[in-house]
Amino acid sequence: MAATFRNVVVWDASRSAAELCDVSIENGMVKAVSQAEGEVKNGDFDGKGKTALIPGFVNAHGHAAMSLLRGLGEELPLMDWLEKRIWPVEARLDGDLVRAGTDLAILEMLASGTTCFADMYFFMDRVAEASLDAGIRCGLSRGIIYDGSDGKLNENLTLAKDFNGEKGLVNIQLGPHAPYTVPFDYMKKVAGSAAENGLGVQLHWLETESEWQLLDLPRDLTPEKYLEESGLLEVSNLLLAHCVWTDPERAEFYARSNVTVAHNPKSNLKLGSGVAPVPEMLAMKVRLAIGTDGAASNNRLDMWDEMRFAALLQKGVRRDPTLMAAKDVLAMATYGGAQGLGFKNCGHIREGCNADMILIDLDRPHYMGWDFESLPWYIVYAGSSEDILMTVVAGKTLYERGEFKTLDEEAVKARALEARKRLTAA
Ligand code: NI
Repeated sequence: MAATFRNVVVWDASRSAAELCDVSIENGMVKAVSQAEGEVKNGDFDGKGKTALIPGFVNAHGHAAMSLLRGLGEELPLMDWLEKRIWPVEARLDGDLVRAGTDLAILEMLASGTTCFADMYFFMDRVAEASLDAGIRCGLSRGIIYDGSDGKLNENLTLAKDFNGEKGLVNIQLGPHAPYTVPFDYMKKVAGSAAENGLGVQLHWLETESEWQLLDLPRDLTPEKYLEESGLLEVSNLLLAHCVWTDPERAEFYARSNVTVAHNPKSNLKLGSGVAPVPEMLAMKVRLAIGTDGAASNNRLDMWDEMRFAALLQKGVRRDPTLMAAKDVLAMATYGGAQGLGFKNCGHIREGCNADMILIDLDRPHYMGWDFESLPWYIVYAGSSEDILMTVVAGKTLYERGEFKTLDEEAVKARALEARKRLTAA
């Protein structure tokens, strides 16, 4: 499919300011980006200089089907929440329920401008199918909580064999859940397997204050040594979700081309986990991304919310309004996440990049006064998901002005409600 977007205000993380451009796409890729000529042909989209076109958001950490668990076990400490409310319900999940929850999450993500999402969960073949049917890009892993067998690792490897690279939309990573659910020796095995199979890894990393102390590890095995000695640093892409309890003085350690830190400010706040040292990591040029985490600990899958929290949280806690510039936050929410999930050719609006993009209506009251320099500030501090006009993945329009092109919204909601009833029935 070919399309041309005329007179649109283009911003991406590689530009110092937004620009008025014409953007043409063909075969799922950006074919050309040029200065707007003002002319509009039949069939072109005309942004009239009042529509922003930016890379789609990449939700770099989450558990999509947890959309079915929203509201369960509110306001409990992380371990109580997991052990008493979440894990017992998750034990009842099956492939159909995961599919229903994933479809529901995809509705929410597309409507709020997310074009790519990370997922670590179970029945991931059904998540891959849901994503392919919807046409959304994703980085998927089978969550591995060690149970004494290789069953989950093998499932993850089968997932990779069946879906890695499918339609250019799906990247598979291995998903060892966290150091507290995967023993160190097994983590080494997972890391070795990822390296051997050319796969990335996503895992939860230093989310809560006490988790590291609870591990039965030699005293001198610091988190950084753990990463080195486990082999995790050898994999093609390592996506570390949270990093809340990273020593800010060790931030430099994480500045590696194959490491991405996924910051989840709202989930960290809601579960009382703490505030990640993101300003230090940003200063050290660590590659950063933003995620929502699952809907049961957020409770929205809305990257606009997440960007605003990421920006405001540090300013308030550190009492320093100069921290977390809006353009850096927007770069984290777009380019950073795409790189972290191994989509090298995503996250910018440039010739030859995948056409993953969103159109934002700047003709709304809260945008009056924007200019090419200040656009990131308007988007991060004033914008919201209600401003999304269109969500495009690989050149295909998946959502436009309240309508889903590849999903039947009412049917998805009805199936999700039914699934929720089955899941939570006593
Ligand atoms: Ni998580």
